[in-house]
Amino acid sequence: MADGLIANAKTLEAELAWFARVLQRRLDAYFADPPASPGLPDAACPPPDLASAASPYADLLRRHDLAPAQRLVLALALAPHLRPQLLDVLWTRNEATQRGFSEFGGIQAPQSGCFLPTGETAAFLLAGDDLAGRLLAAQLLADEASLARHDLLAPTSPVAGETLLAGSLRASRRLLDLVCRGVDGPARPEPGFPAQRVGTGLDWSDLVLPPATLAQLEEIRDWLQHGRTLLHDWGLGHRLRPGYTSLFHGPSGTGKTLSACLLGKLCRREVYRIDLSLVVSKYIGETEKNLAWVFDQAEQRGWILFFDEADALFGQRTRVESAHDRYANQEVSFLLQRIEDFDGVVILSSNLKGNIDDAFIRRFQSVVAFAMPRAGERLRLWREALPPRAALEPGLDLPRLAERHELSGGTIMNVVRYAALCALVRGDGTLRSDDVEEGVRRELLKEGRAF
Ligand SMILES: Nc1ncnc2c1ncn2[C@@H]1O[C@H](COP(=O)(O)OP(=O)(O)OP(=O)(O)O)[C@@H](O)[C@H]1O
Ligand SMILES: [Mg+2]
Repeated sequence: MADGLIANAKTLEAELAWFARVLQRRLDAYFADPPASPGLPDAACPPPDLASAASPYADLLRRHDLAPAQRLVLALALAPHLRPQLLDVLWTRNEATQRGFSEFGGIQAPQSGCFLPTGETAAFLLAGDDLAGRLLAAQLLADEASLARHDLLAPTSPVAGETLLAGSLRASRRLLDLVCRGVDGPARPEPGFPAQRVGTGLDWSDLVLPPATLAQLEEIRDWLQHGRTLLHDWGLGHRLRPGYTSLFHGPSGTGKTLSACLLGKLCRREVYRIDLSLVVSKYIGETEKNLAWVFDQAEQRGWILFFDEADALFGQRTRVESAHDRYANQEVSFLLQRIEDFDGVVILSSNLKGNIDDAFIRRFQSVVAFAMPRAGERLRLWREALPPRAALEPGLDLPRLAERHELSGGTIMNVVRYAALCALVRGDGTLRSDDVEEGVRRELLKEGRAF
């Protein structure tokens, strides 16, 4: 790894020296009399030749086939981290206005105080005050453009009422990791990212579901494994919707989240759970960008997207009571459209299918009902939930327990946890019937059911 870092330092030394020359040239031309606007980077300032550079950073630039203008933008985004003094010249005061130059953009870092570039800074670097060049720069920086889509730049965070290029220009975590650790690791979410990765230690064989439900899950598995072949090699892409959306509905603790995680595990796909509370309430304005980023990443990396409490999404469409709701609805429509266009698997989970509009349900590729387990299934759940190291009190009658109490798999897990903890605290390592009954009683009370 140290080799990678040393090699990176060499490549970046050349990139930053080139960046510094281009910046100086831009400033010289801008303040010349008469001012000039050379389209940069130009022949007088060619980028370093990457052909012979062997470093993770050079590999990255080659792999994404980045143009000189894109390389300059990355160097600009990395400069505050690697050589902040390179940007100090941009603090220059404008004598006419007694403040900084608006056209240099930039903001002051809250702690280090150094110059953090914005889109404005990049546009100035690439185009000076040439308007066509500025528009091209804006295009290059857009979240839909390749630098953000390839997770090299972090998504921009526009502030309401701000100008087109006021958003800060930030290197993504992936880029910083690659530069500072020499490895191109998996994407790590940015702070404020409305999704988190979920997984499970269980296996497919641990899933206790009726055969019909399992068959429906297997259909999703088949799509995960063969969907791309169907769309691309078999040429059905122009007839079929690109992705696959499935609604999982049923009571709490019946295995909806677990099934999504297991599908991911089985097909070697990462599963990201999207936090709808962040989507429909907080981070208004920024959410849409973050969501767009999640979907882009998911498309490129084949992630499965999992939405919990999907009824929050499909239930609130028409109610607009405040400006806040109006924003939320705007984001919801964006999300629905993005789900439609998404070329991967989306799983929506809900406890309340009744709250979901039929118009939506018709657009899903499948609807999977997770029913409360029946007695036979409950017995399997009890048996598999018991810790293998625990002894069972002879009076602990599992078939009777399974028969008597209509509990979900999640609730059974909670009861077993309770009884196992009691056994550990007592120190005899034996699961007792009384503790299990007490655990059941507590769970039923929690659910507001009589015992
Ligand atoms: N059908 C099942 N087969 C095996 N284990 C199960 C099953 N259902 C639930 N469990 C156990 O209960 C735990 C909780 O289930 P899970 O989180 O998947 O429920 P859920 O349907 O997503 O509930 P919620 O609607 O509250 O999100 C699982 O991690 C697993 O240990
Ligand atoms: Mg769940």
